Amino acid sequence: MKTIIHNIKELYVLEDSPFQHPYSGKQMADLRSLKNAYLIIDNERIESFGLMDNLSDDLNLFAKAIDATGKMVMPGFCDSHTHIVFAGSREAEFVDKINGLSYEEIARRGGGILNSARRLQTTSEDELYEAAAKRLNEVILHGTTAIEIKSGYGLTYESELKMLRVIKRLKENFPITIKATFLGAHAIPREYRDNRKAYIDLVINIMLPDVAAQKLADYIDVFCDEGFYTVEETGQILEAAAKFGIKPKIHANELANSGGVQVGIKHNAISVDHLEKIDTEEILALKNSNTIPTALPGVSFYLKIPFAPVRKMIDSGLPVALASDFNPGSCPSGNMQFVMSLASIYGGLLPEEALHAVTINGACAMELQQEYGSICPGKFANLIITKEIPSLAYMPYYYGFNKIDSVMIKGDIYHEK
Ligand code: NIG
Ligand code: FE
Repeated sequence: MKTIIHNIKELYVLEDSPFQHPYSGKQMADLRSLKNAYLIIDNERIESFGLMDNLSDDLNLFAKAIDATGKMVMPGFCDSHTHIVFAGSREAEFVDKINGLSYEEIARRGGGILNSARRLQTTSEDELYEAAAKRLNEVILHGTTAIEIKSGYGLTYESELKMLRVIKRLKENFPITIKATFLGAHAIPREYRDNRKAYIDLVINIMLPDVAAQKLADYIDVFCDEGFYTVEETGQILEAAAKFGIKPKIHANELANSGGVQVGIKHNAISVDHLEKIDTEEILALKNSNTIPTALPGVSFYLKIPFAPVRKMIDSGLPVALASDFNPGSCPSGNMQFVMSLASIYGGLLPEEALHAVTINGACAMELQQEYGSICPGKFANLIITKEIPSLAYMPYYYGFNKIDSVMIKGDIYHEK
């Protein structure tokens, strides 16, 4: 079955064949697009694109013709870092923050990740699934068509596996592509505070082998930062995961120059994420690696902490991916359009750079660049049809509103579940 989208005001992120690397440095601003274009889709995949002036086929030959007059078409967002499986919400801590407590203080008082873990442990697998499915539906309607989801609010054998099974069920029931990440080392549970080694042993020797045996995780993650996991502990966990062939994507340098970036690179991490605290040393290390720096500007906005220096990173020749970090404690939003706005306003990214960062570079940060992240013949027809908007810059400019008319996943327009 063939579908045509015609009269597209502008069609963005075009490739003739999949580029295997993230877009980096100056290339990030070099956006390939066509004005007044068409796009042909054959079943699940993109077949071809071109200028309306060169379209010779009769529209009646297509099973479906979508008129996109005044609308833009771009690849669906690839959100490479989220925690959308969680129990309850943490708006009480939001009020604590308004009253002056910091993220670290809230965490020290038993709030933060441990608060979410307590709630998750007593929530049933079905309830968790239903809550996560609602959030997933919401992010799809905001343009996300590939996503990574982490465990890490379980922090016990039972609850970490429960979270990963919920992610597996989301994978089975939703049309979008999901990558699962095992983040057993998200925080040290209270009962292990005086014996952190025992918890790390549990992660390495009990949880990880079963996660691997049940094929519940595509990646391993560790929160390598001040007050959480040290560089040495992170190294041990990543080394253990490598024995099962599970690659790292890690939380690094959110709260301090923790050495997280370097330990991630050393263990061939696909990405190192957060990076609010990085200097020239880390930038140089990243330049000599294949690890993708991923910024999460929604966290900086919500926690009022510095933004990752994405401008400096790109000017140094690095690629940058942008992700939402959707989670109840440091970014209760999975809106990638807002992520683009924040990266433009506070990170100094041009709209073209921000678009590459939320599409093709996000796809690379989930190893999905072969089939997602750009408008390219052979790739899945996962795309966004915008409302009638005047320009690409309008996406980050008109912040807070949903600029999307419809989302296509594997050739089908997505309808709310
Ligand atoms: O990515 N930084 C670590 N973990 C999450 C926040 C978790 C929470 O506060 O619940 C993050 O920001
Ligand atoms: Fe995170």
